[in-house]
Amino acid sequence: AMSYETILVETRGPVTLITLNRPKSLNALNSSVCEDLIKAFAAFEADPDQRCAIVTGSGEKAFAAGADIKEMADKPAAAFFSEDFFSRWTSHVVKATRKPWIAAVNGFALGGGCELAMMADFIIASENAKFGQPEVKLGIAPGMGGSQRLTRAIGKAKAMEMCLTGRMMDAHEAERSGLVARVVPLADLLDETLKTAEAIAAMPPLAAIGCKELVNAAFETTLDQGLLFERRVFQVLTATEDKAEGMGAFIEKRAGVFKGK
Ligand code: CAA
Repeated sequence: AMSYETILVETRGPVTLITLNRPKSLNALNSSVCEDLIKAFAAFEADPDQRCAIVTGSGEKAFAAGADIKEMADKPAAAFFSEDFFSRWTSHVVKATRKPWIAAVNGFALGGGCELAMMADFIIASENAKFGQPEVKLGIAPGMGGSQRLTRAIGKAKAMEMCLTGRMMDAHEAERSGLVARVVPLADLLDETLKTAEAIAAMPPLAAIGCKELVNAAFETTLDQGLLFERRVFQVLTATEDKAEGMGAFIEKRAGVFKGK
């Protein structure tokens, strides 16, 4: 098994559960967290028995309170630029992960914490969750996708207000605004998210990847190109063994057993 400095990783059947584990700094995202998550997602992606992942925060207070301010405070601007600071989140976490994963947001999701949650395929939030992009207060701006993903998720008016004032949005406003899929009591967050992940894990895995690619394409392309891509993915999936099994199982009134082939 892999060992990690800043996260806990366990498997629950076909679900990989990743817990951000720096509770003393409210799970602030430093470079070690980024590298640990890259390794954990690579292991998840490579294991054919793992079909859905969850990222959550340790403790009851925070999912993640942002990028680690203490790591950034004295870092020279040229180093941010030469490292292309934050780029690995997009290239090695978001783009490298074709399988579905869910953010279970259990408290503060601020700055990079909100941005990490938005990298997930969807968010399930506890009632005490709070979302925000408070970077402006620090003399910076969002750097891990907040200005782009929040705007796509909730529209210009609210995204602009949140980025300019740094105010927090509670879980119910986040659900009304389309940022989160569902709000549940904190005590039920892990169970509810596991149930959802297990339901996804029971789906034909190639079809799940296809659905994810298609929904994501809606943010990147014209309607016509998106509809063409949708038909092509649909048509490709008809060639899979799991399509024969899925349709056969429906007609024979039994549960399908899917292989990812
Ligand atoms: N980075 C580093 N340490 C952090 C942190 C962060 N983002 N957020 C909290 N911590 C640390 C605190 O410094 C404190 O550590 P000490 O005990 O050593 O002092 C510990 O976590 C507990 O935090 P607080 O005492 O502040 O807890 P609180 O309950 O009073 O407040 C909070 C909670 C409102 C979330 C507050 O901690 C806070 O405002 N945190 C910073 C939020 C923020 O600005 N996030 C954006 C960061 S920049 C960014 O993310 C850039 C980007 O786009 C990627």
